[in-house]
Amino acid sequence: MSTHTNHEQAGEEAGVPTAGIQDIAFATGHYSFDLKNLADQHEIDVNKFYVGIGQETMSIPASDEDIVTMGAAAAQRIIERNGTEGIRTLLFATESGIDQSKSAGVYVHGLLKLPREIRTIETKMACYGAIGALQMALGLVARNPKEKVLVIAADVARYDIDTSGEPTQGAAAVAFLVQASPDILAIESSQGVYTSDVQDFWRPNFRNTALVDGKFSVGAYMDALVGAWHDYRDHDGVDFDEIDWFCYHQPFTKMAVKAHMRLTREAGVPLDKPEAAQALEPTFGYNKQLGNSYSASIFLGFLALLDSETDLEGQRVGFFSYGSGAVAEFFTGIIQPGYRKHLRAQEHQAILDARVPIGYDRYRVLHPGTLVQPLDNYRTERETQGPFRFEGVSEGSRLYR
Ligand code: CAA
Repeated sequence: MSTHTNHEQAGEEAGVPTAGIQDIAFATGHYSFDLKNLADQHEIDVNKFYVGIGQETMSIPASDEDIVTMGAAAAQRIIERNGTEGIRTLLFATESGIDQSKSAGVYVHGLLKLPREIRTIETKMACYGAIGALQMALGLVARNPKEKVLVIAADVARYDIDTSGEPTQGAAAVAFLVQASPDILAIESSQGVYTSDVQDFWRPNFRNTALVDGKFSVGAYMDALVGAWHDYRDHDGVDFDEIDWFCYHQPFTKMAVKAHMRLTREAGVPLDKPEAAQALEPTFGYNKQLGNSYSASIFLGFLALLDSETDLEGQRVGFFSYGSGAVAEFFTGIIQPGYRKHLRAQEHQAILDARVPIGYDRYRVLHPGTLVQPLDNYRTERETQGPFRFEGVSEGSRLYR
């Protein structure tokens, strides 16, 4: 493993201070659902899920939880530690938006009683949305290094019952603070970007559940990976062997293994399946338990790596984000000296342990079904033990407490 300074590439030498992630935390839903329940229901071998797609449980939000309550719970911990000073922008990235007009971030702003002097918007591009938000945040910090940006990525991944995507559902939120001279990750300037208009996964406004062409989506992910990688290399990206760790978007953890095999082949240093799985193993812990969390998934891979036993100081991490539809990006960052003092590994384990296991029948009750039901007035049961609740809808307005 190599050690890199925190201002390689276009950092301080070019007169621009380093910027990146100062603090990062996750939150999830109240319930967990072991994929054994689903395998039993379908009378198939559970190892198709545990081994074949590399997923063990999925998080399920309670009826009084959603992207806002999870996002606010994650962001609250960032604010408790760092305060609000310097935060002038809140970016909320999601695929599972709760309003066609108002940003979910504005609800979080209200729940956390953030200062009025903040701009708040929502970004959307399937699972890529939070990386778009991160790049916007880095741009704002580069323009004024005194400013900080709070980014929230939160999603509830839902497919129809009895479809190939069903075992890859999940839910989680990640919140992180972007600022100059960060304590955890300094993000380097080179980016490889990619857009291609493909119909691999989408969710029309009238649906609660995503539509997906599963096998085609795996191929679309691979095409985007190759495209983003070559664009990264064409834009001053470092050699493959200068990258110590890889964090991929993980719709299911085996997808990342397939992707790493493809990337290593592209880079001329091919790894076989066990080697690729071993190289990525430290990034899998959280996503295996939470399921797909779309925009948050890549950051949960990164958090699992940070919270692992491995000493990462000075090492370079490569990130690949893929949003179906499709937009992708490859970029890198350097783990900062002393980063461990800023982690929350025990807190994260406690969040996983606090989830309440449910069986198949309860899972079916909580599944939202395919079509959006236009209910203007209803109340939710009190279920969540989290700090915020979605109380229901009154005259079409969502109520949070
Ligand atoms: N023991 C061990 N392994 C087993 C097994 C058993 N008993 N039974 C099957 N397997 C293996 C299979 O051999 C296969 O392995 P390989 O992939 O290495 O060939 C693996 O388990 C999966 O089996 P199938 O291919 O038969 O699975 P499937 O067709 O039912 O589902 C999928 C796969 C289509 C990808 C499905 O998970 C899906 O639709 N997922 C949702 C879409 C998705 O996540 N796409 C990823 C790219 S798009 C994206 O990244 C954006 C996003 O977040 C959605």
